[in-house]
Amino acid sequence: MKKELKFPEGFLWGAATSSYQVEGGIDNCNWSKDFPAGKACDYWNRYEQYFDEAKKLNQGVHRLSLEWSRIEPEEGKFNREAIEHYKKMLIALRGRGIKTMVTLWHFTEPIWFSEKGGWANFEAPSHFQRFASFAAKELDEYVDFWITINEPGIFASHGYIIGKFPPRQKMRIVSCARAFWNFARAHKKAYRVVKEINSKAQVGMAENYSFTEALYGDPLSRFIVRIWDFARNRMLLEYTRKEQDFIGVNYYFHERVAWDVKYPFINIKNVDRTVSDLGTEIYSRGIYKVLKNLQKYNLPVYITENGLADKEDRFRGDFIRQHLRWVHKAISEGVSVKGYLHWSLLDNFEWADGYGPRFGLLEMDFEKIEYKVRPSALEYAAICKNNKLILEEK
Ligand code: GAL
Repeated sequence: MKKELKFPEGFLWGAATSSYQVEGGIDNCNWSKDFPAGKACDYWNRYEQYFDEAKKLNQGVHRLSLEWSRIEPEEGKFNREAIEHYKKMLIALRGRGIKTMVTLWHFTEPIWFSEKGGWANFEAPSHFQRFASFAAKELDEYVDFWITINEPGIFASHGYIIGKFPPRQKMRIVSCARAFWNFARAHKKAYRVVKEINSKAQVGMAENYSFTEALYGDPLSRFIVRIWDFARNRMLLEYTRKEQDFIGVNYYFHERVAWDVKYPFINIKNVDRTVSDLGTEIYSRGIYKVLKNLQKYNLPVYITENGLADKEDRFRGDFIRQHLRWVHKAISEGVSVKGYLHWSLLDNFEWADGYGPRFGLLEMDFEKIEYKVRPSALEYAAICKNNKLILEEK
């Protein structure tokens, strides 16, 4: 039996990217030395070709980020050529009838900023504000949605506790807390400067939300879940709720928290469930739980990222359908979800994991910088075109 799930009129369908992961030729940022991305997808030069492809795939919104290290390579000195280039990119999207979602900070920053102590430095929000103000003045008329900061919680924990991301520090709890706090302040400052330039601008933040549940039903585990869930998913939002025109949700996985000697606070990888190439369990119901938990903020929500590493494209089509089924359920229960952007349009540089994990709707050959359209991209394109999801039910 076939079941049709119609999405609201005007729902936006698209895909997301970020500068360092796709552009190529970025050698002046915090990642360049330890994690060089080389030419990546050469998106900086070939953006028209990728936008044509997005258009062919019926996408109506595209998310990209501005590379701060290109735009402000030296402190206080802005590079005209770089900003003009981004302007051209945004015009190219608009010219194809594609709305633009622009992230100001997606894990990368100029070296001079890192040398001053990066996000752990209390002056970081002011530096970011100057950059945000310049970008907004130059680009405002070409931007439909602004995202100030991408996944501050992930960057603070990976940069200062786990040590996987720059500045690659481990267990620096104070620095992590300072970075987190500075991200929140930076968001507020950037929000205000963008709104001063255009009071109608739509500005939000994209955070990585997880659905957290207790592995066992004992009271201690349940209590830990509540604390963890608040710190991980809500604290920042509570503090910045007045400065969010919409909530940007990046959803990838859920976490099971257990209090036992062997696995305190662990995200247990269940080998008996379908997993992505990176080992994360595919758990589509979690996106519904995340959305329902955000309902009380009464704000529009955009799914700013959702996807999986799946080189062989075995699960992606079904992954998209299952997640959208749950998104649709959340909408039918009153959550104001306005759009879905898949991560990612194309395979790209997956940060500390390099070029191994493949998240793209387009499959890249990084040697030749050529691509092929994956079958799941066409399945997604049909959903985008019809604004509805067709499910085969047994
Ligand atoms: C997110 C991040 C993206 C991308 C994605 C896939 O955390 O914002 O840049 O890498 O994960 O793992």
